[in-house]
Amino acid sequence: ALRASFARKAHKDAQVVQSQFQPQASYKVAVLGAAGGIGQPLALLIKMSPLVSSLHLYDIANVKGVAADLSHCNTPSEVLDFTGAAELPSSLKGVDVVVIPAGVPRKPGMTRDDLFNINAGIVRNLIEAVADNCPDAFIHIISNPVNSTVPIAAEVLKQKGVYNPKKLFGVSTLDVVRANTFVAQKKNLKLIDVDVPVVGGHAGITILPLLSKTKPSVSLTDEEVEQLTVRIQNAGTEVVEAKAGAGSATLSMAYAAARFVESSLRALDGDGDVYECSYVASDLTELPFFASRVKLGRNGIEAFIPSDLQGLTEYEQKALEALKPELKASIEKGVAFANKQT
Ligand code: NAD
Ligand code: LMR
Repeated sequence: ALRASFARKAHKDAQVVQSQFQPQASYKVAVLGAAGGIGQPLALLIKMSPLVSSLHLYDIANVKGVAADLSHCNTPSEVLDFTGAAELPSSLKGVDVVVIPAGVPRKPGMTRDDLFNINAGIVRNLIEAVADNCPDAFIHIISNPVNSTVPIAAEVLKQKGVYNPKKLFGVSTLDVVRANTFVAQKKNLKLIDVDVPVVGGHAGITILPLLSKTKPSVSLTDEEVEQLTVRIQNAGTEVVEAKAGAGSATLSMAYAAARFVESSLRALDGDGDVYECSYVASDLTELPFFASRVKLGRNGIEAFIPSDLQGLTEYEQKALEALKPELKASIEKGVAFANKQT
């Protein structure tokens, strides 16, 4: 009897400790494009977050089954499904973070910019609904070409009078995830320790890993820097070719997007030590949008880290200058699209 009473007491203590230290599940997250290749595994990973109380899944089709399936997981969040444009506004009401992986993916031989004609309009329409229904939410854009879809979103939000550049993010986390993996593999480092900032944009040579700023510091030959940089820049294409017509990165993307969602929720929850790379409105260079490390807080971007762009190697400096014309053109294309439509 004594042992049983001790066991009961220990169990109770553990519950108290758990309730003291477990983050409160209180945030609402919407995924637009939730039935897709990224949307489904991303929804699963968000369903596992202890910070989420409600997960809103929106798509133009097939989302009911995804939501029914996920809702059986015994994690804190409820799962709600929304299908078609008529249900889009309800999917966004009261939401803290909106993640947008809606749109078509690449096939072999295509660039991300080849997706512009279809995805630009999808992002514009979804952002109009975000502006009308949850203008204060953090907005995470995954749909490609990110270099143009983020400027489109910014213009639409401006047209609606609700643009907050501190809360609009192009998700470039996958570039960091890849850079960390490839550098750790090459140098036989523990994966968990490696952190490579990746700046610029999210397409081809606009993806610029700053390998000289890797933490912990690593020594790389010029040849290794060249190989790693090219591999990180082409990693999306590596997956597109391996999938041979069946789409682009979905699982690693879901992993990366879930990391960015979790970081945003931690920032919203008051964690003062949250840093992520993201493609955002920026003054760090002469380009109006630029991916770099940012500090996240309750109100979105709290600080930029200008020192990340100082003391670059000659290779990085040249690559930075080389990416600017392409990134500028992609930004201008997005801005022109958004303004032509009004
Ligand atoms: P997918 O085709 O598997 O899924 C897309 C989903 O979007 C589908 O379920 C589709 O029904 C839905 N959809 C289409 N139009 C919609 C609309 N108007 N409203 C809501 N939902 C809509 O594609 P995927 O593999 O999930 O990729 C999605 C996008 O993410 C692509 O544009 C791809 O290029 C991009 N992507 C970006 C990154 C990144 O690093 N930022 C990485 C991988 C993929
Ligand atoms: C990626 O980097 O995997 C995505 O942008 C998808 C793509 O088309 O490569």
